[in-house]
Amino acid sequence: MTEIKRFTIDDVKNCKKSGAPLVCLTSYTTPITKIIDKHCDIILVGDSLGMVIYGMENTLGVTLDMMINHGKAVIRAKPSSFVIIDMPYGTYEDNPDQAYKAARLLIDETSCDAVKIEGGADMEETINHLSNNNIPVMAHIGLKPQSVVKESGYKVKGKTNQEVHDLLEDAKAAENSGAFAILIEGTIEHVSREITNSVNIPTVGIGASSACDGQILVIDDMLGLNTDHTAKFVKQYANMADEIDKAVANYSTEVRNRTFPSENHVYKGK
Ligand code: KIV
Repeated sequence: MTEIKRFTIDDVKNCKKSGAPLVCLTSYTTPITKIIDKHCDIILVGDSLGMVIYGMENTLGVTLDMMINHGKAVIRAKPSSFVIIDMPYGTYEDNPDQAYKAARLLIDETSCDAVKIEGGADMEETINHLSNNNIPVMAHIGLKPQSVVKESGYKVKGKTNQEVHDLLEDAKAAENSGAFAILIEGTIEHVSREITNSVNIPTVGIGASSACDGQILVIDDMLGLNTDHTAKFVKQYANMADEIDKAVANYSTEVRNRTFPSENHVYKGK
């Protein structure tokens, strides 16, 4: 049997030089990972799972155990994509040592390739500490969902000169402290472009325009599984909610009129 080659950190970094767009999606389970892996370069086990899987209002209640369990589920699919796991709120912000312990646990328990943390200039010391201790870090800047309460909502970034200045500082700090890539969320197009042009590591955008080196979407959003609010930056490539509704309506009808199970689905003696 030939071993499938896993996308490496060097493959990720090389995309900046080659100009090949990085294709990234979130995944939280084994079956979805098996389906999407061959189309992706990076799979993120995002803390968005708190909302899309567990029905939480935001990502603040997500725990390290949840990330470990879903990380293990994704890795069980034996993906060839580079797998990154989000560090949940409250597990890395206090100090670099706290971050190291949580990140080490995530990597040791799941065998994922890297972690993602929300922050740039404010997380410089932590990114530096993790990177120097063989823990690859993706920095998440722009709209940071874990700051939703502190900022009283989800706010698009890069609208003022101060914000543009801060975002560029965040990106530079992330790169200088050893991050291998930067995720830019919810940021005005020309600012995403400026950030992308100002660093030598790849940027991956969500709601941050095609100026980024790669793109990521939350899998449930792009499959049309999310029946609540759909953000402006989401493109639905399927309407799985409708497909599930139709399938379950059919099943329900067939059980009620006793056409399921049919002869094909029944064990006969001998
Ligand atoms: O948790 C997540 O899914 C994310 C998205 C912004 C991709 O971080």
